[in-house]
Amino acid sequence: MLTLGIETSCDETGVALHDSELGVLGEALHSQVDLHALYGGVVPELASRDHVRRLVPLAREALAQTGRGVADVDLIADTEGPGLAGALLVGASVAAGLGIALDRPVVGIHHLEGHLLSPLLADPPPAFPFVALLVSGGHTQLMAVEGVGRYTLLGETVDDAAGEAFDKTASLLGLGYPGGPALSRLAEGGDPRRFAFPRPMLAGPGLDFSFSGLKTAALLCVRKHAMDERLRADVAASFQQAVVDVLAGKCLRALEATGLPRLVVAGGVGANAVLRERLLREAARVGATVHFPPVRLCTDNGAMIAFAASLRYRGRLQGAAGFTVRPRWDLGALDAA
Ligand code: KG4
Ligand code: ZN
Repeated sequence: MLTLGIETSCDETGVALHDSELGVLGEALHSQVDLHALYGGVVPELASRDHVRRLVPLAREALAQTGRGVADVDLIADTEGPGLAGALLVGASVAAGLGIALDRPVVGIHHLEGHLLSPLLADPPPAFPFVALLVSGGHTQLMAVEGVGRYTLLGETVDDAAGEAFDKTASLLGLGYPGGPALSRLAEGGDPRRFAFPRPMLAGPGLDFSFSGLKTAALLCVRKHAMDERLRADVAASFQQAVVDVLAGKCLRALEATGLPRLVVAGGVGANAVLRERLLREAARVGATVHFPPVRLCTDNGAMIAFAASLRYRGRLQGAAGFTVRPRWDLGALDAA
């Protein structure tokens, strides 16, 4: 079964084709980072217009890589939410139009479910059940995942998401948007022990997170010292270390609390090399394994949407019928296998 996946929830236009036997056959992606950099964040109207411009050419490009024609597509999937309403509507419109033109089913996918299942695109894929750490620009959640659609929330951030904290601290250090990758590059030359930033909610029990105080601590630190290259690198390294300590600490606690032997990491911050290395080391210590999606699939992409749709459709899980978008959508509201 060949599934065409479309992702337009925020500032990446992603299209991919996933074959249920052969895996991902074609992928095309356009990041709007340069478009929004001037404004220091995503401008929703500009995002929507750019999706309109890019989507069909990207779909053609992805399809061309597969050596198949559009008539070979069996299933069409789009990100139904959560995300920017106008941006989501572009993907939903193209998916609905294709569905009508080709007389194929259209499935609306929850963006976070796409991220959550993306580690299953790794070779070999992890088996269910597992603990999932979902760390993106908008979300930081720990979930127990028993199967497709069977997700139990274990903990989440009470304020900023980890990626958001990376982006805001990066902006404080004069780095562009999105700041996560740039901050982690800057941190490579810094001393992670120079500043003892707080590890919010790590000492207490529970699996919730908080990152806004950490961001403020970085701000106060920068205000107190004269800004030079050394300081920037040391703040970046110390900040990254604090985030990694918190994420790793909570992941271990979640493995312990659930008794599950596998940890899966998804979302943009999952591309962070220091976090990856730390989780691999810590999990090995307690006899658990860690699974990441391929780095290119950590951030938003069409492949995770096609893949989630393919699993849902084959598992006969209801996808949204017709033409809907849900800018706000609780992952817990999804139906299960
Ligand atoms: O999953 P994603 O592409 O988009 C959302 O659904 O939010 O995640 C984007 C987030 C941004 O906050 C970005 O700064 C962060 O992931 N990010 C990173 C890294 N690569 C992306 N954060 C830390 N280190 C990285 N290497
Ligand atoms: Zn995302």
